[in-house]
Amino acid sequence: MNDMSPVQTNNLEAFWMPFSANRQFKQAPRMFVGAKDMHYVTADGRQVLDGTAGLWCVNAGHCRPKITEAIQKQAAELDYAPAFQMGHPKAFELASRLVSIAPPGLDHVFYTNSGSESVDTALKIALAYQRVRGEGGRFRLIGRERGYHGVNFGGISVGGIVGNRKMFGTLLTGVDHMRHTHDPARNPYPQGETEHGAELADDLLRIAQLHDPSTIAAVIVEPVAGSTGVLPPPKGYLKRLREICDQHGILLIFDEVITGYGRLGAAFAADHFDVVPDIIVTAKGLTNGVIPMGAVFVRDTIYQAFMQGPEHMIEFAHGYTYSGNPIASAAALATLETYKEEGLFERAKALTPVWAEAIHSLKGARHVIDIRTIGLIGAVELEPIAGQPTKRAFAAFVKAYEKGLLIRTTGDIIALSPPLIIEESQIGEIVDTLKSVLASLD
Ligand SMILES: Cc1ncc(COP(=O)(O)O)c(C=O)c1O
Repeated sequence: MNDMSPVQTNNLEAFWMPFSANRQFKQAPRMFVGAKDMHYVTADGRQVLDGTAGLWCVNAGHCRPKITEAIQKQAAELDYAPAFQMGHPKAFELASRLVSIAPPGLDHVFYTNSGSESVDTALKIALAYQRVRGEGGRFRLIGRERGYHGVNFGGISVGGIVGNRKMFGTLLTGVDHMRHTHDPARNPYPQGETEHGAELADDLLRIAQLHDPSTIAAVIVEPVAGSTGVLPPPKGYLKRLREICDQHGILLIFDEVITGYGRLGAAFAADHFDVVPDIIVTAKGLTNGVIPMGAVFVRDTIYQAFMQGPEHMIEFAHGYTYSGNPIASAAALATLETYKEEGLFERAKALTPVWAEAIHSLKGARHVIDIRTIGLIGAVELEPIAGQPTKRAFAAFVKAYEKGLLIRTTGDIIALSPPLIIEESQIGEIVDTLKSVLASLD
């Protein structure tokens, strides 16, 4: 086919969809053509309630005017500025705004375009920091079983989801994993942090002793593991990790790609759990999901360690063509303003008990074996069909969509994370729809 060929329409095969069952989708496509506030609009004109904030990212709801206008205006004013050796005011204004809502000491921001890039950026900052402060022997990175840190090589190396790792060779060397914290036998149907399991943080000590603590650069965890099926941390677990890191000169990285920007009713999970890491990884809710952008928050001591040597030299050999892109910066500024003006983080906090009670009312529904909630996140775990893992939850996903509700599934777990603007009546609608979906499943 040459360039003059007529436009081909609806060649569904051309697009290799990410993290999707391509053949199943292309037999019966589920297409969104519009969105407003809490709803999507399907190609056949149906309204679908967004129970997942898109992919955990549309925290302020869809097509919010302030964000849309900011993007339109910026695109017409300054479309792009080189990210290296040049600047534009909005990237600096945004960084100042971001550090003003970050936990104390996290005074600097490095921009990326996604959660995966933020994770790999954080890992590189950690390794390079150890080297510039004269601790180049600290080359190991520690993650956790069941952790999800995006899909780039650093992220899948420290991540602990087998299906996301097994196809991709040897990954990064020098990586080890702590035990995960999921223990439904001791912590059934938790609301908020689980009662049991703080001692699992001592697995970091075991690993540190195995390799010698002086070889470890950093440990990375999601404060609430999201994509593996919503695992709230045990009470005291994150504090204990912080103590062990402090004792052994190890950096603590929180991957807050899901928990950042209000999901737990505070700006960051670090605030919610009152544990301040050395680096916070964010993306998603930073721009309300509208434009790809990530931000890595870094402690002042780390930043300052790089600001050495001749001043004409580049201090950190890392960055992306689109780091701090003007349109993304404008979108993020308008997003932060929307969160603030509408008090959305406080709203999420106030709704947390209502949300927890509603989602836990699904206890006893058909196939349900566990339910977990924290902030405005929920997980409903289903008994898998024997020999056919994921099939039952996927059927729930398709049925919910047909009944006008968007949910997300991971394994046999239904994950929920609505926009923070959700009304109580819409929480009720999620629960009612799920009840009828679950009752109809094989
Ligand atoms: C905790 C966590 N880290 C990283 C990522 C990767 O983000 P992205 O898909 O923007 O690369 C995700 C995405 O869901 C995530 O949940």
